[in-house]
Amino acid sequence: MEIKSVGVIGAGTMGNGIAHVFARSGYDVVLVDVEQRFLDRGLETIRKNLDREVTKEKITAEVRDAAMPRIAATVDRKKLAACDFIVEAASERFEIKSELFRDLDQLCRPEVILSSNTSSISITKLAAVTKRPDKVIGMHFFNPVPMMKLVEVIRGLATSDETYATVKQLAEKLDKNPVEVNDAPGFVSNRVLMPLLNEAMYAVMEGVATPEAVDQVFKLGMAHPMGPLTLADFIGLDVCLDIMCVMLAGLGDPKYRPCPLLIKMVDAGWLGRKSGRGFYQYQ
Ligand SMILES: NC(=O)c1ccc[n+]([C@@H]2O[C@H](COP(=O)([O-])OP(=O)(O)OC[C@H]3O[C@@H](n4cnc5c(N)ncnc54)[C@H](O)[C@@H]3O)[C@@H](O)[C@H]2O)c1
Repeated sequence: MEIKSVGVIGAGTMGNGIAHVFARSGYDVVLVDVEQRFLDRGLETIRKNLDREVTKEKITAEVRDAAMPRIAATVDRKKLAACDFIVEAASERFEIKSELFRDLDQLCRPEVILSSNTSSISITKLAAVTKRPDKVIGMHFFNPVPMMKLVEVIRGLATSDETYATVKQLAEKLDKNPVEVNDAPGFVSNRVLMPLLNEAMYAVMEGVATPEAVDQVFKLGMAHPMGPLTLADFIGLDVCLDIMCVMLAGLGDPKYRPCPLLIKMVDAGWLGRKSGRGFYQYQ
C-alpha cells in the first residue's frame, strides 16, 4: 500500500514537528489533539517554523505554501480512519497511549501501521493491546523535529520485517536517517544520554561545579553543541525524571536512580525552559 495520508496524534512539541515534516514532504496529515487550543497552538508553531525555514533558505516559499493546506487539524479522532499510517505523539503516559492504541486498532484499516514516538514506553507492551502487534513500531523523532536527522526505529518483540522496512523507507522519504534499535527501556538514545544528564545533576548537587562550569566542560572539552544541564532544561526536567524512572523500573540497576536534586526541582515546578526556571533562569 502506498502511504499518502498520515495521522499524527498530539499537536505538542513533537506532534507539530512531525506534522510539519510529513506535510513538507508532500503527505496529507490529519493532526489530532484533545482540545482546539492545542491544535491552534501547534498550527501556529508549524507556520512560524516553515517561515523560518524559508528565511534560512532551507525550503522555498512554494514548499511552505503547499505544506500548510495539507494539514487538517481536528479534535475528532474518527477522522484518522482514512489515514494510511499513524504516528502517535501524545503525552508520555502508558494509560494515555494504551487507550489510544486500543482505539486506533478498531479505527484504522487492518493493514495500517501504528507507530509511537514514545521516548521510553515499551513498544512491545503497546503492541500487545492491539490485534496487530506485527504492525506496531517505534518511530522516535528528535527535537526540533524539522532539523534533527535521526529517527530511532524501535522494533517490538512482534514487529514484522515488513513493518520495519516500510518505516525505514518512510523516514528516508522525510530526509531523515533511520537507525534500527530493539525494544528496551530508554532504547539507545535515552539509555545513554539520560545517565549523563543525571550524573551532571549529581555533580551540581554535590558542589563539584556550577551548572555553567559543567556545561562549559562539555562544550569546550567534548565539542557538545550544548552542555548537559542546558540540554536537560531544554528537554524538560519532568521528562528527564520520567525517563530515569522508566529505566530504573525496567532495568532494575541502581545506576539509573534519578538524582535527588532533579526530583526536588520537579517537585518545585522548576521544569526547565518551559516553566521559565530549571538549572538556568529563562525570564
Ligand atoms: N519533548 C521531547 O524532546 C521529546 C523527544 C522525543 C520524543 N518525545 C515523546 O513524544 C511524545 C510527545 O511529547 P511532547 O514533548 O510533544 O509532549 P507535549 O506535552 O508537548 O504534547 C503532547 C500533546 O498530546 C496531547 N494529548 C494528550 N492525550 C491525548 C489524546 N488522548 N489524544 C490526542 N492528543 C492527546 C496533549 O494535549 C498535548 O498537546 C511523548 O511520548 C514524548 O516522550 C518527546
